[in-house]
Amino acid sequence: MSDSGASPLSALIARHDGHLPRYTSYPTAPNFSSSIGADAYAQWLRATSLEQPLSLYIHVPFCDRLCLYCGCNTSVVRLESSRLAYGKLLMREIGMVADALPGRGRIAQIHWGGGTPTSLPAQSLVSIMDAIRGRFDLEPGAEIAIEIDPVNLPQDRLPALRAMGVTRASLGVQDFNTDVQRAIGRAQSLEETRACLKQLRDIGIASLNLDLMYGLPHQSVDSVKATARAVLELAPERIAVFGYAHVPWMKKHQMLIAEDSLPDAMARFAQQEAIGDVLRSQGGYQAVGLDHFALPGDALTAAAETGALHRNFQGYTTDSAPTLIGIGASAIGNLQQGYAQNAARVPDYGAAIGANRFAVTRGVALSDEDRLRRSMIEQIMCGGDVDPKASALHYLGRADALDGSIAAMEALEADGFVARDGTRWRVTERGRPFMRQVAATFDAYLGQGATSRRYARAV
Ligand SMILES: C[S@@+](CC[C@H](N)C(=O)[O-])C[C@H]1O[C@@H](n2cnc3c(N)ncnc32)[C@H](O)[C@@H]1O
Ligand code: SF4
Repeated sequence: MSDSGASPLSALIARHDGHLPRYTSYPTAPNFSSSIGADAYAQWLRATSLEQPLSLYIHVPFCDRLCLYCGCNTSVVRLESSRLAYGKLLMREIGMVADALPGRGRIAQIHWGGGTPTSLPAQSLVSIMDAIRGRFDLEPGAEIAIEIDPVNLPQDRLPALRAMGVTRASLGVQDFNTDVQRAIGRAQSLEETRACLKQLRDIGIASLNLDLMYGLPHQSVDSVKATARAVLELAPERIAVFGYAHVPWMKKHQMLIAEDSLPDAMARFAQQEAIGDVLRSQGGYQAVGLDHFALPGDALTAAAETGALHRNFQGYTTDSAPTLIGIGASAIGNLQQGYAQNAARVPDYGAAIGANRFAVTRGVALSDEDRLRRSMIEQIMCGGDVDPKASALHYLGRADALDGSIAAMEALEADGFVARDGTRWRVTERGRPFMRQVAATFDAYLGQGATSRRYARAV
């Protein structure tokens, strides 16, 4: 993007840098409260409509290494017995959910996230999938996705992944520059990554995603471009490009990353743009939403083009199921009635599930206004256009219910981030990196209480 238009780019970045959610849910997680617990969750499950297929998210909070930047709920757990025990808890929770649902559910998508799900022993991975198949029907062509650390994938996990029927794998890269890797405590060569991708392709996993990051210590425009070019050699179907979220008040190990080694907002912006340029112009990838890239013909690109793209806790997805069930410590479910999150700490999660109680400790029930605002935010984050007046009329019977948001968007229109056509609004190409700022105009909770400071920086 050139430094032209309504305001110089540097002034825009300075003005719009702040702390904002990534809007993987609305209301966002800091707005969850203890008003939703195990009993409410059980009721929600019992009242879940099974007319449409369900999705499952399974969280494994273990890794073989702890990367200093990591914002995920995970820790290094080496004891095989602890990993096996956790696998058993997951199976038990799957059974409890199946018992609570009003019938046998069909599943369209399963996402194994973490942490590093393949840190579970091979026998656990296969048994958990068998437990799912025993209690649910998998839709034909169901997507089974899993996150993998390419440096820590023991050989016995390959036949396990095949037996599980995994269709998509997502691998972390972040940056191939060795200075950056030293500063973030994550050594990983291009060759190791290439070898892992080949092994996954050899067992029939046809869709691979790689994660890159910008905003890390010692990164520069040149270094991130070099990493992006190396990633093009690996030819993944999808690439996610995340801005480093530095939240040491939530993730204590991030304190080991010196703040003065971090690029400022202008440098982060330039790095993000540089990676996008390489992926688009040299690799032929298409930008999808805020931070994803996919090859033309990929289901994600197709979904973005047809307005079928969705956003959930895993980022962008083609998953349109109205019910996402979260399994495992800290997993968040998105049920028809609202969001429900399991206890984040493994001992708390284990104590509840071990006693046959759901482990939900936080959540939020959705009001009609939440649903309206959530639909606006999801469409904005997915690159679609919104008609706030028509939607407000549809959800609340009052066309003026979002007039405050429309006024806030008018200010962003002056910056060239949004454009309107009649009553419809869309994010412009200039506004794409500022999508979260546009989405935030619909967030009724932002700035309430102490939540804002809990988000990462917006640029
Ligand atoms: C669960 S990990 C991916 C799988 C595997 N554990 C690995 O690291 O290779 C999820 C991804 O989240 C991203 N991530 C982790 N911490 C982050 C942070 N603080 N800010 C932005 N992105 C982050 C990284 O790109 C990482 O690859
Ligand atoms: S980035 Fe991946 S491997 Fe590193 S600590 Fe986080 S979840 Fe574990």
